[in-house]
Amino acid sequence: MVASLGSPLLRQAAGGGSLLFRQLFDAPTGTFTYLLGDVGSGEGVLIDPVFEQHERDLSLVRELGLRLVACLDTHAHADHVTGSWLMHQATGSAIGLAAAVGAENVTLPLHHGDRVPFGGRGLEVRSTPGHTDGCLSFVVDDHAMAFTGDALLVRGCGRCDFQQGDAHTLWASITGQILSLPDSCLLYPGHDYTGRSVTSVAEEKAFNARLGGDATERDFVGHMQAMKLPHPGRIAEALPGNMRSGRPRGDDAPVAWAPLQRSYAGLPELLPAWVAEHRGALTILDVRSSEEFEGPDGRIAGSLLIPLPELEARIATIPAERPVVVVCHSGSRSALATQQLLKAGRQQVANLHGGLSRWQAEGYPLDAPH
Ligand SMILES: [Fe+2]
Repeated sequence: MVASLGSPLLRQAAGGGSLLFRQLFDAPTGTFTYLLGDVGSGEGVLIDPVFEQHERDLSLVRELGLRLVACLDTHAHADHVTGSWLMHQATGSAIGLAAAVGAENVTLPLHHGDRVPFGGRGLEVRSTPGHTDGCLSFVVDDHAMAFTGDALLVRGCGRCDFQQGDAHTLWASITGQILSLPDSCLLYPGHDYTGRSVTSVAEEKAFNARLGGDATERDFVGHMQAMKLPHPGRIAEALPGNMRSGRPRGDDAPVAWAPLQRSYAGLPELLPAWVAEHRGALTILDVRSSEEFEGPDGRIAGSLLIPLPELEARIATIPAERPVVVVCHSGSRSALATQQLLKAGRQQVANLHGGLSRWQAEGYPLDAPH
């Protein structure tokens, strides 16, 4: 089910308000990704997507019915590759990054003072260099929230010891562009490694050990220069990838066996139209009870019946040479069956999205008992 533009589902997902906000997390790199959506228009932006989380992010955008206008990166990351190019391929969203970075495939080169609109809302672009030359912070138009990338972190800040980092520059950025926002402005960082997800201008002014309280620029610079940090592990791989905006090198992307759509729950699914067209090359596995299979609801011709409670014991009897599409009445029991097959090591498995009830509603035939 996909919501339509400005739909009730999107408004409800936004908690009844006019701005949808989701904070997503990539655990291996401690990276936050942020999704914002304007409920009225259905337009959205994604900040700092992670390459490996592309399918997760895309499924959320699709399930909420958002039209993604842009992916914005706060800077050229050294610890992970951006998902911007993949999202651009999937949705046509613009690829936004500071023009100063000079990366390839950027379709929306950003400068200090730019505004990135999405529907009736917008993000203010502020240049906040110091961690890198090309660092940007994005401030929501009403100054209630800001996304600070690696310039300002919760009770910390980005390192200044590589990638053109400079502690004096970072001090000027944080004090002039971020802590100058209203005290109640919520600040969302690019990373956290200890489970903290959000802070505020007032908190960082009071408690940030490097630059809050009575700290001066000299204190801050002294602190930053004394830090002895290990070399970032993935920089040799991540930075070149980000200089291509996350576009994979060459055409070495694996070819999928079917146009799978992954649900936000993480399940590979196929739509009835594709399954109907390729039915001859597939095993259609029906996991309802035999009463339902033989009953008036009907079944897809040629499908194999293994009721869900018997599936685990009978997995080996499913022909190995064909991809398996699992079906039930609504797509719920078959979702569990799909998970069981994947767990058992079957590679080419998908759930029929919406089950037989959607299959029938879309006009595809069911064999009924005689
Ligand atoms: Fe960074």
